[in-house]
Amino acid sequence: MAKVPVEEVIRFSTDCFKALGVNAKAACQQADMLYQADRIGYFSHGLNRLEFYVNDVKNGACTPNKQPKVEKETVSMAWVNANNVFGSTASHFSMDLAIKKAKCSGVGWVCVKESNHYGIGGYWAMKAAKQGLMAFALSNSSPLLVPTRSKKAVLGTNPIAFVAPGCDDDYFYLDFATTAVSMGKIAFYARKGRKLPDGWALGPNGKMTNDPKEAMKARQLMPLGGTESSSGYKGYGLAAMVEVLCGITAGSKYGHHIRSWVLSNKSGGSANLGHAFIVMDPHQFAPGFKERVSECLSYWRNMEPADPKLPVIAPGDMEKLVGGKTDREGTITYIKRILEHSRKIAKDLKVKPLKEIPL
Ligand SMILES: NC(=O)c1ccc[n+]([C@@H]2O[C@H](COP(=O)([O-])OP(=O)(O)OC[C@H]3O[C@@H](n4cnc5c(N)ncnc54)[C@H](O)[C@@H]3O)[C@@H](O)[C@H]2O)c1
Repeated sequence: MAKVPVEEVIRFSTDCFKALGVNAKAACQQADMLYQADRIGYFSHGLNRLEFYVNDVKNGACTPNKQPKVEKETVSMAWVNANNVFGSTASHFSMDLAIKKAKCSGVGWVCVKESNHYGIGGYWAMKAAKQGLMAFALSNSSPLLVPTRSKKAVLGTNPIAFVAPGCDDDYFYLDFATTAVSMGKIAFYARKGRKLPDGWALGPNGKMTNDPKEAMKARQLMPLGGTESSSGYKGYGLAAMVEVLCGITAGSKYGHHIRSWVLSNKSGGSANLGHAFIVMDPHQFAPGFKERVSECLSYWRNMEPADPKLPVIAPGDMEKLVGGKTDREGTITYIKRILEHSRKIAKDLKVKPLKEIPL
């Protein structure tokens, strides 16, 4: 493990993208998206993923120097063709448009096709909350989720993010995958040699497994909720709902038609993912929205915990805590594997390596 100064995290990813010929704006935006994931503790979606994005640009599966364009629009809706740019370029473009429409008509609903992986969904919904609006950010993704009663992954981990502003820069922030856990968490258990709890993953034989190595091989995750008896069908339903609102509505690839996102993809086949950004202006409804959001947040935070060592927190508090710590310390601590991958990428792309501060 080693510490890396935060400005180095952004500098390094930006340099890697620029070394591949990506324009400065797209390179910076994509680098910031990766940094923000690590900043709030979602290491599965930060530097850890850099080689996937690098690989996609190298083999032509993603073309970041193009520009997204609006295919069709009304005062409150738009259908965007991302033109196979980075997920971050597509999402900044589309969320900014949805915010503009919500400010003008109360609602802004933008659906996106031909996009790429957009990282942590909360980052996009937060853009609207910073302007006093509430927002959903939804995306489909490569198949990993096995529908209840099935033994084959045909839906993505299709994340749902919803952020609503409270008073004094506080906010309700919910952002989660619709599988019980991510592949990243399974890999973490494999590294630690820990048994998986029931309801997380299937093994290669299509049966639920507690062995993280088998689960890594099979890449078949159970839906949020786990087995049928613990209501896993609700997670399956939520993932399917995201697919209807993203891929099916946008006319991008959807569900079982989406490529698997693996480093061995040398075919240049694009992801053609779909996203949805739905922004609403709470001022169009009852006055006092932010005050009531804040009142709920503080009520929950002040509830008596079942275990005194584990205080009740509000959705988003964990991210605020970790993000605040990163901001204060100015460094991020990475595990050996991520540092090794970064060194390899630096060598391949002839980019100045990350500055590592040994612990
Ligand atoms: N782009 C993609 O294709 C894709 C796919 C899957 C996941 N993701 C991203 O990965 C990230 C992680 O997803 P995840 O499902 O592993 O998240 P997770 O299981 O850690 O859940 C996170 C959510 O739960 C809240 N939370 C956590 N503990 C809590 C507690 N004790 N009380 C109240 N709320 C609590 C957090 O504030 C957050 O809103 C998300 O940012 C998601 O958007 C992206």
